[in-house]
Amino acid sequence: MSTAWVVLFLAAALAAACGAEAALVEHTFVVSQIEMHHMCNDSLVTLVNGQFPGPTIEVTEGDSVVVHVINKSPLGVTIHWHGVKQHNNCWADGPAMITQCPIQPNKNFTYRFNVIGQEGTLWWHAHVGFLRATIHGALIIRPRLGPNSYPFPKPDWEVPIVIGEWFDMDLFELYEKTENRIYGDIPLSPTINGLLGDFNNCSGVTEDSYKLDVVQGKTYLLRIVNAAIDKAYNLKIAGHKFTVVAADANYVKPYPRKKKKNYVKPYTTDIIAIASGETFDALVIADAPPGRYYMVAQAVQTTEPITQKRVLMSRGIVSYNPMKWSGDDTLAIMAPELPDWHDERPSFYFHGNLTSLLPQTVPSNIDEHMFMALRSGDNCLYAGSPHCKVTMINNISFQHPSAMPLLQAHYNNNMRNISSLIEFPRAPPMVNFTQTPTLTATMVKNLRYNSTVEIVLQGPPGEMSYSNPMHLHGHDFFILAQGIGYYDAEKDVPKYNLVNPSVKNTAHVPMYGWTVIRFVASNPGVWFFHCHTEHHSSSGMAMAFVVEDGPTVETTLSPPPTDYPSCDGHNSIVEYV
Ligand code: C2O
Repeated sequence: MSTAWVVLFLAAALAAACGAEAALVEHTFVVSQIEMHHMCNDSLVTLVNGQFPGPTIEVTEGDSVVVHVINKSPLGVTIHWHGVKQHNNCWADGPAMITQCPIQPNKNFTYRFNVIGQEGTLWWHAHVGFLRATIHGALIIRPRLGPNSYPFPKPDWEVPIVIGEWFDMDLFELYEKTENRIYGDIPLSPTINGLLGDFNNCSGVTEDSYKLDVVQGKTYLLRIVNAAIDKAYNLKIAGHKFTVVAADANYVKPYPRKKKKNYVKPYTTDIIAIASGETFDALVIADAPPGRYYMVAQAVQTTEPITQKRVLMSRGIVSYNPMKWSGDDTLAIMAPELPDWHDERPSFYFHGNLTSLLPQTVPSNIDEHMFMALRSGDNCLYAGSPHCKVTMINNISFQHPSAMPLLQAHYNNNMRNISSLIEFPRAPPMVNFTQTPTLTATMVKNLRYNSTVEIVLQGPPGEMSYSNPMHLHGHDFFILAQGIGYYDAEKDVPKYNLVNPSVKNTAHVPMYGWTVIRFVASNPGVWFFHCHTEHHSSSGMAMAFVVEDGPTVETTLSPPPTDYPSCDGHNSIVEYV
């Protein structure tokens, strides 16, 4: 072989070993309003490219993504790339008035970001008011070395399962009500991949069900997203089990250790308990007798004495070897056994069982010990309405800034001009924190670059409890422990998993309980941290971290993009023109 051939050969071998070259994945998202008909009602909904759920973005790890958002709707819009770490790219993160002004009607903005060091399923959604109810979609990240490099048996098919919620009311109205601390509205029905399912009917018309055709013996990788506005869901398929392989685009260990270092059977579960904002990748083998099986997503709801609503359920159908049935829909469908719709225990155990696939290096020098009491109250101090509700962290209810996004103010060294700004309180005023907010303010916590933060997230432990999925932008964190009741350092620190904790962007804080997370603030910028229950987030259960620049160019916040949207006097979060 001549030298040239050797070089060529080596280059080809190297390319094969390294997988595909990083690519540019480009999408255009046209946001507009479209009339949709469900349950005897026409509603005007705001969608991306007329789709519900919106388009799936598929990338290979290392790719660059460019999304041109063209706003043809009468509302201000932003898009957040939920779970994408956005290293040194905070301008593209998307939460309204945190990193950017909403894109005004008839205006455009192009989001540009790289997907690096993450594999699995994430998603994207509008991050303004309640628009994400209908503006969302999956973001799938495949390994650079191809499907043979999955740390689990290669699936035969991959299927996104996006759980959403259908409201039969105007989402702007819903948002305004929440802003005014009036809530209690629940969706009409959950959806699986946009369909309400045959559990729902109106005047004898049954809603369409999501249908998954399977071939016996084949393995399916379900990429499950909870894109719902509020609720946590239990997902089950009659007669089938799941092997969970990833959570929030981080691989988890499906093989529990039995005795010493013996990985026996994969850990299977018959339930996926998924809170709003979470994503799970799970393998399902079509190993049941041929037939038709319900796939059910049922909302987990709060217990008495909180007002009881009704069962919220969407049913899809898993159908075997559809050719053989030749459309025979009369065959009985097997239904899964469901936990009580108030029972949060399956979710507690499901989340407690998650560990990361590989051992993790958990930093042990904590620079910032934080405690966050997550509460809601029915105090009407700020709304003057007898029905108002407010949510808070450490007795302070978050208020979005109105004049300028926090990130812009931070970049321009202008934070002190945000009159509502306060430093996040170190701890709640008392252990048995009250139900009354002491303040409505834009609370931020300043963090030195690369500082290690540990947060105890304490949910309401008493009666009237509910779970809170707390989501951090721009970083993943380790989930060290969870428990029921009040967190007690003396008892609970020894229970921390410092070996292989799961790595996530959304922490499920259980009903009546607490969760501890730890992360390194390695990404300069302003990063929103909030409950992913939109009613909570919009009524105050939120705060923002301001991560300072590091010592190098790569660790310094870059300048804003040239087409960075301006508020143009439209300083409310969502508004009609
Ligand atoms: Cu999925 Cu700040 O959100």
